[in-house]
Amino acid sequence: MARPHIEPFVELIEGYKKFRLRGFVGAEYKTLSLDPDTGACTLKVKFNGGFKRPPGLSYSDMELFILNGEMTVGGQTCREGHYFFVPAGVAMGAVEVPQGCEALLYFNDAEPHFEPSAENHHFALAAGYISVNSYEDRPWASGSIVSPSTATGVMLKLLRYDPLTEAMTFLYCMTPEYIQDNISYHDCAEESYHIWGTSWMMQFGDLPTGGYFWRPPYINHGSFRSKYGCIALGRTDSKLHNYFHFNPWSNPSENLHRAAAFLYRQRPQLFKWIAATDHNHPHGPQGQVEAAGPAEAPPDFERKDYASDPQVAYLQRQVFSFLEADRSAPRALTPQGAARHMDHSHTHDHDGLGPHTHGPGGHHHHT
Ligand SMILES: [Fe+2]
Repeated sequence: MARPHIEPFVELIEGYKKFRLRGFVGAEYKTLSLDPDTGACTLKVKFNGGFKRPPGLSYSDMELFILNGEMTVGGQTCREGHYFFVPAGVAMGAVEVPQGCEALLYFNDAEPHFEPSAENHHFALAAGYISVNSYEDRPWASGSIVSPSTATGVMLKLLRYDPLTEAMTFLYCMTPEYIQDNISYHDCAEESYHIWGTSWMMQFGDLPTGGYFWRPPYINHGSFRSKYGCIALGRTDSKLHNYFHFNPWSNPSENLHRAAAFLYRQRPQLFKWIAATDHNHPHGPQGQVEAAGPAEAPPDFERKDYASDPQVAYLQRQVFSFLEADRSAPRALTPQGAARHMDHSHTHDHDGLGPHTHGPGGHHHHT
């Protein structure tokens, strides 16, 4: 399983535990969230005065955000607001903490790990390394860089953006008297730590300084209020899309189906691909997905009859008339199509004779 939902969690009332792992002795930690299968975790860490370790790497992507105090990394003094993204296998400089400091520490792929090394691993994606003082050296941007957008009054500093997954790490703040009246959910997991200030959510109440959540996809959150404002460090594990609505009773399964209904309406070809269960790979001259028939429209609690909307129905019909034309001439595959048809074993019914199995090499068995 992935990390469980934890919200709200206020770490300030919890005690620290002593770290005993190589590379972390002399530090203490609190676990904010943990994936029990992989060991991936988010920790709050206190590096006690006198902490030292040599240059080294881990076999997990790692993120570090300094909350207070000073830490010297590779000779550079880093203070509150300093953010590091250290890709798996990239050697981080020697760390020294003369007088103590607290930080958030994230291991994204595996349990905390440290291997002394002055050299990067030869497979490390060294270009992904980030070291920046986020308070001083990154600008605030309007929250509307994510669209559909939160209410005005949220600002973002983007610290890391993964171009493949669209995962993000970002500082965000809410202005005093921030109000957002709708309810939100996403397809991604969302995580936040309140560096300072309190925000309120209808479902989870106040999240004060030291408040934390790890929230899996499709969980309702909002409406929102913040009386005096707040600043927080947020992360997502993939693309953040704001699905907004006003139904406080919808559950994660209904939210997921409503998200699928967006896909059904707006990207019908992609929906077809995902919904096809019989033969879910590109096939034939057009590279179309071969689906058994029109897939059922996922329920949308806000727009119950959307599938009979003429434009939505037109797009669905269009996808299937294309597939039908393809099916009616199964022998007229292009040479490339024929080659792709034969280079794997599969079962389907393309000529009304019942299911067929093709072995590699293209000969037919009746099943
Ligand atoms: Fe959210």
